[in-house]
Amino acid sequence: MSSSEHDPHPMGRRFLLAGAAAGTAAAATTFLAAPAATAATPGPGSGRRFAGKVVLVTGATSGIGRATAIAFAREGAKVGFCGRRENLGRQVEREIRAAAGEATYIRADVRVPAQMESFVAAVVKKYGALHIALNNAGVQTVKPLHEMTVEEWDDTAHTNTRGVFLGIKYQVPPIRRAGGGVILVTGSANEFASRPGLGAYSASKGGVTGLVRAAALDYGADNIRVVALSPGTTDTGLVDARRPPNITDAQWAAGKAQFGRDNVDALRRMARPEEMAATALALASPELSFLTGTSVVVDGGMLAGL
Ligand SMILES: NC(=O)c1ccc[n+]([C@@H]2O[C@H](COP(=O)([O-])OP(=O)(O)OC[C@H]3O[C@@H](n4cnc5c(N)ncnc54)[C@H](OP(=O)(O)O)[C@@H]3O)[C@@H](O)[C@H]2O)c1
Repeated sequence: MSSSEHDPHPMGRRFLLAGAAAGTAAAATTFLAAPAATAATPGPGSGRRFAGKVVLVTGATSGIGRATAIAFAREGAKVGFCGRRENLGRQVEREIRAAAGEATYIRADVRVPAQMESFVAAVVKKYGALHIALNNAGVQTVKPLHEMTVEEWDDTAHTNTRGVFLGIKYQVPPIRRAGGGVILVTGSANEFASRPGLGAYSASKGGVTGLVRAAALDYGADNIRVVALSPGTTDTGLVDARRPPNITDAQWAAGKAQFGRDNVDALRRMARPEEMAATALALASPELSFLTGTSVVVDGGMLAGL
């Protein structure tokens, strides 16, 4: 942001806000979902909550996707994941395998239909089925709309919205064949509210809201739940891309901490990617068997301070 070097809150106050109605609905739905846990259902931290499950994650070379791929593998799932940065993809794969997990990185760009189709097919071929998918890949361009190029708009829309459509399109047939499962999408608090410069991003995430609701209706009868995990500000590369030039690491860390205090009224800090990963695992778990067609806002109480 142009004035950020002189701004004590370089990312601007409340650049991510969540809608109260959406958050309330999500919370109520979660509350109403009767826990189906039994002695035979391994719980959090058991190390085998997702044993026997095949999980696919898009955009897991960094950030929330990376943390989620690691968390699913730690809980016994076989994980196929993509992203474009091959070095990082291989690194995440090695990290999971070094911890005795099972994961395979496959380079794929969610904007390219043939690559999404072959990515899903490769995961199914490698691990024999597909039960859970997290459509997480996303980008953010921060610019007022009159300065945004058509290419930047299209890139945001093609990654964040069309990429999710392509994911669902190719994931549904194998999940159906498996007898059902869960499709998660990483939405955003910006599904519900925006800030200056987030026109393309907010529109793309608003599209996710509609996709998730429609897909839940299309595939409920197939025993497929579809849910958006909608983070508030989370400390990842997406945030670091907004780092002003010429500041030190310590200044940037202090700026992010200040942002959390100023904008996240309840918990007063940004989320860690691992906290979004923990939510993704919870949303995919059989305990939340009645949760579908909605967005679960995970924003540290940002909307509570509206
Ligand atoms: N961080 C936040 O504050 C925040 C808040 C709300 C929602 N979110 C959402 O969270 C999701 C993950 O973002 P993050 O915060 O974890 O940021 P990140 O660290 O930048 O991760 C973004 C991931 O998406 C992948 N990706 C981007 N374009 C892709 C493409 N065309 N094909 C395949 N993969 C692609 C990136 O991999 P490659 O670059 O290797 O392709 C990377 O793995 C995004 O959907 C984002 O909108 C983030």
